[in-house]
Amino acid sequence: MTASYQVHGDVAVITLDNPPVNGLGLATRQGIVAGLAKAQADAGVKAIVLTGAGKAFSGGADIKEFGTPKAIQEPNLLSVILAVEHCSKPVVAAIHSVAMGGGLELSLGCHYRIAAPGTKIALPEVKLGLIPGAGGTQRLPRVLGVEAALNMIVSGEPVKSEMLAMLPGQKLFDKMASSPESLMDEALAFARSVADARPLPLVRDLPCKHPKGDAYFQFARNMVRGMAKNFPAPLQCVDAVEAATKKKFADGMAFERQHFINLMWTSESRALRHLFVAERAASKIPDVPSDTPQRAIARVAVIGAGTMGGGIAMNFLNAGLPVTILEMKQEAINHGVAVMSRNYEAQVKKGKLKQEKYEERMALLKTTLSYDDLKDADLIIEAVFEDIGVKEKVFRQLDAVAKPGAILASNTSTLDVNKIAGFTARPQDVVGLHFFSPANVMKLLEVVRGEKTAKDVLATVMAVAKKIRKTAVVAGVCDGFIGNRMIEQYGRQAGFLLDEGCTPSQVDKAIEKFGFAMGPFRMGDLAGNDIGWAIRKRRYVEKPNMKYSKTADLLCEKGRFGQKVGKGWYDYVAGKRDAIPNTEVEQMIAEHRQALGITPRKIADEEIVQRLVFSLVNEAARILEEGIANKASDIDVVYIFGYGFPVHRGGPLNYANELGLFNVVQAMQRFARNPLDDAAFWQPAPLLAKLAADGKTFA
Ligand code: NAI
Repeated sequence: MTASYQVHGDVAVITLDNPPVNGLGLATRQGIVAGLAKAQADAGVKAIVLTGAGKAFSGGADIKEFGTPKAIQEPNLLSVILAVEHCSKPVVAAIHSVAMGGGLELSLGCHYRIAAPGTKIALPEVKLGLIPGAGGTQRLPRVLGVEAALNMIVSGEPVKSEMLAMLPGQKLFDKMASSPESLMDEALAFARSVADARPLPLVRDLPCKHPKGDAYFQFARNMVRGMAKNFPAPLQCVDAVEAATKKKFADGMAFERQHFINLMWTSESRALRHLFVAERAASKIPDVPSDTPQRAIARVAVIGAGTMGGGIAMNFLNAGLPVTILEMKQEAINHGVAVMSRNYEAQVKKGKLKQEKYEERMALLKTTLSYDDLKDADLIIEAVFEDIGVKEKVFRQLDAVAKPGAILASNTSTLDVNKIAGFTARPQDVVGLHFFSPANVMKLLEVVRGEKTAKDVLATVMAVAKKIRKTAVVAGVCDGFIGNRMIEQYGRQAGFLLDEGCTPSQVDKAIEKFGFAMGPFRMGDLAGNDIGWAIRKRRYVEKPNMKYSKTADLLCEKGRFGQKVGKGWYDYVAGKRDAIPNTEVEQMIAEHRQALGITPRKIADEEIVQRLVFSLVNEAARILEEGIANKASDIDVVYIFGYGFPVHRGGPLNYANELGLFNVVQAMQRFARNPLDDAAFWQPAPLLAKLAADGKTFA
């Protein structure tokens, strides 16, 4: 049983008890209904209090039941809420900590609600591409007013109970408890005070109107349309709340239900639900159990105060951890610290950070030129030049000074973490922590697991990632790990598309219409085209048989490195980020094409998108096969949080699943027949071919 029943004098208490957040799984729902029956059958019970054990009233649906028959098995949530409404004795919801989604909807079925201050109240269904499905859109406007309720439903964001209690005329809470500790006593007293009240008040009987009527909903739709872009759910939140104001309660409920079910079947909701589960699953490593002991991390050091080092340090300062930055020269320190200060000052200016907080954070920062000052550090992250010789020097020195058990991490994006670990006598303590630029902003962290990396090191860095609010994904050692190894194939396809007849802006526009934040050429201009050039030069030596378009090299030979020099694939005006197509670049591409003897053809957007996205998919399948990624969903998390892959498509592998892997393989075979493309690359990875042949998906 995941709900308990107790009697306190003349009041029965039903307590949801399904850790961690009292999700409304089948056993819990059964427990509530059983408790109501018991209380009604007991003549000594005059009223009922419904509450939650531990850290929540209820967080809503039980995610473990998502997509299983249990989720809808009777008593489903709608039936439980009906049972509460129909209870012959008053039911008082005693709400604390968290009341979200189905949990809030359940409380809205109760006759009375008493809340502890500090309770987070939300209907977050929209974040999963849904609308509330158990009366939330019909009942919340009746207790909070249309506007306040719609704001909550459309945003999905939690609001504190004490804020809601201040809304004029609100009927969400009949009483605010004076503290979380006294909630139960106050709820019991309140229940006794209403024991004889009849008829029992029901939220469904309250009126629901907006004084401006249609004009308000028109305004709301215009607001929401702008924000919702690729998702149908937010606009349907408006429709459902409007229905609450225009239809009878029962008809409004039916309207909500129908829309909820329809949204369940949309690819957008499937994508969001996939990512919700994928993000949580990413922190679990198959052979590192959750009870693996962790090392204490109280002091952090960062080597190198360049582009990455400064941003990396900021993450830890923001989390309240002291950081020491080591550099080779005082000027480099000064420059690095100035960049960090400017970053913080910009946040203060925008009102995103308080001046005191900024000062507190900077006070946690120390700088040094001497390795002696790293003796106390529990975690040391190296972010020096991407050169194995430089890394060797740094790691040998770290090995000499770091205390036993300190974790030694490298931010390398391409170098062999096993080799780096080999520069020390403690390879078990070495791990890759691949941050993304700008490191203080980007959510993704690739944790690179070396051959000898100890399990407690992995468990520790995954916990550290959480502390600094990163989404961490574990990758094995290979060139480029998960993300960059895939993006290299994507970049190669972008190059071939130019050679075959596209312009940079045609490619960018096509993939941006698909939903990418930025196309490959705008991205190159932002990151610096010289970075890719350096990697390619290395590739020409390492992999002489690999086919590359040379167009990007020609661009770099002209010094068009991107935004930092005001010109790349596009032109840029100082201080602006708009990409302006450049005829000289297009001329250069055309001339190169001619030199190769290629007759340009018109390439449809669909082909552009498929070649770019399927190149990611094929390389991802190889990465999975080789065990570089633990699971397909990890790869989707990498692409959503690190590479701007469109969220509504749920990541490259989720997107491939949606299309059907058979179709993906068919397209790859078509691309392989294009003499200007790379036939060897387009051979479907054996794992992909097998899944497609078996009619399976990456899931
Ligand atoms: P950067 O050139 O901006 O900064 C490197 C800093 O390290 C410089 O300030 C330099 O003075 C310092 N440094 C060099 N040798 C040192 C030594 N022996 N001891 C102490 N300090 C030393 O380089 P960036 O871009 O910050 O890259 C650092 C590392 O991060 C590289 O391994 C790179 O591959 C990786 N990375 C870079 C990303 C990017 O977008 N820039 C993204 C992810 C990883």
